[in-house]
Amino acid sequence: KLQDIDPSKLSITKTKTPKELVPPNELVFGRTFTDHMLSLEWTAADGWLPARITPYQNLSLDPASCVFHYAFECFEGMKAYKDKDGRVRLFRPTKNMERMNKSSARIALPTFDGAAMIQLIAKFAAMEERFIPDTRGYSLYLRPTMIGTQRTLGVGPPGSALLYVIASPVGPYYPTGFKAVSLEATDYAVRAWPGGVGDKKLGANYAPCILPQLEAAKRGFHQNLWLFGDEEYVTEVGTMNMFVAIKNKETGQNELITAPLDGTILEGVTRDSVLSLAREKLAPEGWIISERKYTMPELFEASNDGRLLEAFGAGTAAVVSPVRNISWKGNLVECGLRPDQEAGEIAQKMKDWIESRQYGDEEHEWSYVV
Ligand code: COI
Repeated sequence: KLQDIDPSKLSITKTKTPKELVPPNELVFGRTFTDHMLSLEWTAADGWLPARITPYQNLSLDPASCVFHYAFECFEGMKAYKDKDGRVRLFRPTKNMERMNKSSARIALPTFDGAAMIQLIAKFAAMEERFIPDTRGYSLYLRPTMIGTQRTLGVGPPGSALLYVIASPVGPYYPTGFKAVSLEATDYAVRAWPGGVGDKKLGANYAPCILPQLEAAKRGFHQNLWLFGDEEYVTEVGTMNMFVAIKNKETGQNELITAPLDGTILEGVTRDSVLSLAREKLAPEGWIISERKYTMPELFEASNDGRLLEAFGAGTAAVVSPVRNISWKGNLVECGLRPDQEAGEIAQKMKDWIESRQYGDEEHEWSYVV
């Protein structure tokens, strides 16, 4: 019988050359890493081999390894936080493990026991505790990664794989606080399509998204907005899920909208957290919370009527990223912010509510104390 992950078999080799900490205000997202890494090898014959925590080090891979040729790679993004009592907390790790299993299964990489993997990640995060600043806005970004390692140019399911986790101390995405971004709607390229893999966290989904982002940057925009189809459905913003708040034309009721999980939308953990908090805290105030398709013409009309209240992106890296305006078909669609305002009311509230659970200020089942 193939072995699943057994956390009790973990072996630990500590570094003899501990790194010097980078001052928190000098941290750049994903540029510096901790002392160690967590690795597990898998083979089709034996299943998961015992996990190892070792000094952070280069991988040694055969140039014919299938990851380099056919993109057998998936990953996760999750964070560990330090609370006011110095305890290390993971945020909703079960969600990341569930998603990673869906991603790996889709590209014929092995699946694993998520609960066992969380125990290992918790152990790893605890070991790297000194790298986690205890200041609000700071955390340890964890990057579980799985690659197919089989040496073959044959196109088929990998007979061997490597699952590893590295960790990078990170600061607030916007060190100066919330900054509203300007978007360019991309109409010449699509990120995802029905029946595709846009809902999976595959490395192969990210590389093709850089060019449209560079194009947007060339014209002075911070990010691009991904549309889909002749209807110009709004799908995602850069690497984040998109939310808009609109006052309904007929009823005058406020509605918080994000695109539905129809296979073209990444199943964001922050997306899920925003929806959940909205249903808990905004719905009782009369808000309608909708996972439904919405279009650029709909946003354009709402903006012109003064009914587009705000827009923001949601993701693990930035948590919430307010949107000031969207360039679309020669129009600059304003998204409800005054010129002196960097975030709308809902974006600000969401950020505070989510962070309160991430840092354990509010004790909640989303927070996993290691
Ligand atoms: C996010 O957390 O918003 C992302 O998906 C970005 C990550 C790929 C760095």
